[in-house]
Amino acid sequence: MKNQADIKKIIPLRLNRSELAVPGSRPEIFEKAAASKSDAIFLDLEDSVAVEKKNKARENTLDAIRNINWKNKTLSVRVNPMDTIFFKKDIEKLIGFNNQKLDLIMLPKVNSEKDVMKLEKIVNRLENLYKVKKKIGFELIIETAQGLINVNKIASSSNRIESLHFGAADFAASIGAKTMSIGGTHNDYGTLNSISGKKKRNFFLNDIWQVALFNIVVAAKANGLRAIDCPYGDFNDNEGFKALAKSSYSLGFDGKMLIHPKQIELSNKIFSPTKKELNDAKEMLKIIKKSAKSGKGAIAINGKLLDIVTIKQAKNIVELNNKILLKKND
Ligand code: GLV
Ligand code: MG
Repeated sequence: MKNQADIKKIIPLRLNRSELAVPGSRPEIFEKAAASKSDAIFLDLEDSVAVEKKNKARENTLDAIRNINWKNKTLSVRVNPMDTIFFKKDIEKLIGFNNQKLDLIMLPKVNSEKDVMKLEKIVNRLENLYKVKKKIGFELIIETAQGLINVNKIASSSNRIESLHFGAADFAASIGAKTMSIGGTHNDYGTLNSISGKKKRNFFLNDIWQVALFNIVVAAKANGLRAIDCPYGDFNDNEGFKALAKSSYSLGFDGKMLIHPKQIELSNKIFSPTKKELNDAKEMLKIIKKSAKSGKGAIAINGKLLDIVTIKQAKNIVELNNKILLKKND
């Protein structure tokens, strides 16, 4: 396995706060998506496209990669899963007709590192065959019970991997969780506090995705990858979206897949450092620099001791902000 520093050199720095899903079967909304403020777009050939429209959606998508101006957005295509009759043709066409505009292939329902190695082999062969200069990167969706069990091996299985994504809807189906809305919570997943006299008992809702999210973010970050949270299907529920997005931002996620353009601005805002976070981080780095010069060891700010990890976190915040500024100036 490569160490984190080596891998970071290979993976391009990309903003990934918002990644809008655009069904390949709906070319009428491509231009609008290209003009949006989403950091990344994925044109979808998988679950938002009905089986009888798969071939047409692929044609639309190839056409859109070549002919639409995607500006400074990261462009990805979600292909059909490996065990479908559409998968091979999806990859062949995408690599064969790539005119250097496609950045990433998103592979859904990844079950093990073998899936990634198989994809890599196919892509290597096609890129050689077509003499493609720009190497394509991979985004992998962890959304099956098998995928979650194997997530650590998956995360280090190819140098092309840029990010791990969580797919809550498929994951729920895979383990038999009883959620009905994409990426939402379940009001029965919780517990009561213990009986104490006649006091009314309180119900505490638990986060049904906690374990999956935690494992995914750890596997991603251990390998220098971005971690992207699942879509939130109820696009009229801004409060629900915000709560879950803030929760994954605070855990270390870099962004969310989005199901509706309404969610773009919210996501960009939540996955950007706040003014206070940025000022605190800058202040911290300034003080640390000063104390290093004067040869002081451990230092405290506002009554809290700083260690190497806090410094790293401060650097991450400043680095993320620099990426956002670069995008604004593009
Ligand atoms: C996304 O692909 C999901 O299954 O939630
Ligand atoms: Mg899915």
